[in-house]
Amino acid sequence: MFNIILFGPPGSGKGTQSQKLLEKYGLKHLSTGDLLRSEIAHQTPLGIEAKNFMDKGQLVPDEVVIGMISTALETNPDVAGFLFDGFPRTAAQAEALDKLLQLKKTSIAVMLALDVSEEELVKRLLIRGQSSGRSDDTNESVIRSRIEEYENKTKAVADYYNSFDKVVHIKGEGSVEEIFDALCAEIDKRKE
Ligand code: AP5
Repeated sequence: MFNIILFGPPGSGKGTQSQKLLEKYGLKHLSTGDLLRSEIAHQTPLGIEAKNFMDKGQLVPDEVVIGMISTALETNPDVAGFLFDGFPRTAAQAEALDKLLQLKKTSIAVMLALDVSEEELVKRLLIRGQSSGRSDDTNESVIRSRIEEYENKTKAVADYYNSFDKVVHIKGEGSVEEIFDALCAEIDKRKE
């Protein structure tokens, strides 16, 4: 199995690049944001609980997202690998993911971290908010809260993987194709 974490702040291009990487490498996409939005759309108890946090730009509690990822790993036993998008977002999530992957006798090959300035992030998300229907994109103060959560709780996850020498920083500004090529070059170096 070849497992990748696509990492970066809100609006850094994780979702955009994931779609292209999945097509090229045939990995299974696990986006906790998408999984949570699907729970909200189906009005499940988990979705109703998560919406309260997401609408304020806050992280959903660890046990909720770890449970979702655990189920997703169990229900996809025969994939070539996973592309984690928006997960892990806290140190507790990173440790839980390592344990879950160990049970499957696999691990994270690389964390690809997209670097984008705060002003560019806000600009991208406000533009997307005009048409996305995402409640967390429409209001600048919610967008800033999401970035603050990233700075306070998520950024340190890169330090965790850095201690295993698994982090590569990629410039996340420029054309989608340029960024995609830079991501692929790093993946190809690590894949046999
Ligand atoms: P999630 O769905 O993960 O959203 P996010 O991290 O806030 O990221 P986005 O989807 O907004 O951005 P992205 O990096 O994927 O960029 P995208 O490609 O879309 O999380 C949402 C919420 O769910 C969280 O706030 C939290 O509450 C909860 N949650 C999720 N996971 C959780 C977890 N593990 N733990 C706890 N809570 C969790 O691009 C953004 C825009 O920019 C698009 O319009 C795109 O077209 C544009 N764009 C992309 N690339 C470029 C480029 N190169 N140049 C110009 N524009 C570009």
